Amino acid sequence: MKKAEIGTDIEKARELLRHEQLVAVPTETVYGLAGNALSEKAVAEIFAVKNRPAFDPLIIHVYPVERIGDWVTDFPEPARLLARAFMPGPLTLLLPKNPRIPDLTTSGSPVVAIRSPDHPLTQELLAGLEFPLAAPSANPFGYISPTTANHVARQLGDKIPYILDGGPCSVGIESTIIGWEVNGRPTLYRKGGIPAEEIEKVIGKITVQPHSTSNPLAPGMLKSHYAPRIPLVIGIIPELLDRYPAQRIGILSFRKTYPDIPAEHQVVLSQTGDLKEATRNLFSGLRHLDTQDIDLIIAEFLPESGLGAAINDRLRRAAATD
Ligand code: TXA
Ligand code: MG
Repeated sequence: MKKAEIGTDIEKARELLRHEQLVAVPTETVYGLAGNALSEKAVAEIFAVKNRPAFDPLIIHVYPVERIGDWVTDFPEPARLLARAFMPGPLTLLLPKNPRIPDLTTSGSPVVAIRSPDHPLTQELLAGLEFPLAAPSANPFGYISPTTANHVARQLGDKIPYILDGGPCSVGIESTIIGWEVNGRPTLYRKGGIPAEEIEKVIGKITVQPHSTSNPLAPGMLKSHYAPRIPLVIGIIPELLDRYPAQRIGILSFRKTYPDIPAEHQVVLSQTGDLKEATRNLFSGLRHLDTQDIDLIIAEFLPESGLGAAINDRLRRAAATD
């Protein structure tokens, strides 16, 4: 296939989707690789283009928020409270799926992951479609998620016909995933754009499910993920600089710059220590460092609260080797 066209033609995107083709779409979190969630052909193509294992289910996207009710068979009160508080926005709910959603979309699970994105282009696209969109992050499986149309074009540009360009993502990290499978108790399966603390203010105490590589059915929990090609280690930056004197180093720091390292080998997430800004810059920063002529990326953890906890989760997974 020739290189994907990049543009803002919503009607063109809709026509392609109606013909079971794939379109990359902007959301407030990351760009998604979208296809008709009710079409087995489109869904199979999503798995193929991403090189994603068939056991890893897809999130479906709807707009307006009220349409969630069309695709689930039960919408319990705590889920409604969260939807009212955070949607449209970076929150995904796991709810019992309507049988019209193919098993292929949910990898055989009776539960569907559903969210309503907060991006005007994709909202307009969804509002005019007769079906929801299945859309995993638009990156090859295991690599860093894309936060601009160009990120998508560089990696999937020869595999899809169209990329809807909505500018850089305003949140910059994937949605928070909440489900109730374990004894009906609220469980956080993936840290993301809505901090756990904010969720607890609405529905009370939630359980955080730790990562696991041994149980790939646990959602979003594959450990080695979001990984750059260049090895990444996390610690105290000055100590790591001393430990690896012979290596060409790239630095991903929260606030500080380091005078002995070339500027293009450094990414500062937020000089003022603003967590939202840091989140927005995380994936593009990792991508930038991953294109530099360096041997090792060193990074530091952020304070482990609010969005800092979600950033730290992605850093841990970017550093994981298994
Ligand atoms: O912010 C986001 O959520 C982005 C944008 C594009 O919406 N999407 C995204 O999709 O991050 P993806 O596929 O990269 O990550 C979705 C995660 C996967 O790890 C998957 O295992 C989990 O959600 N998931 C999806 N459906 C599920 C289900 N039915 N039950 C349990 N986990 C599910
Ligand atoms: Mg992903």
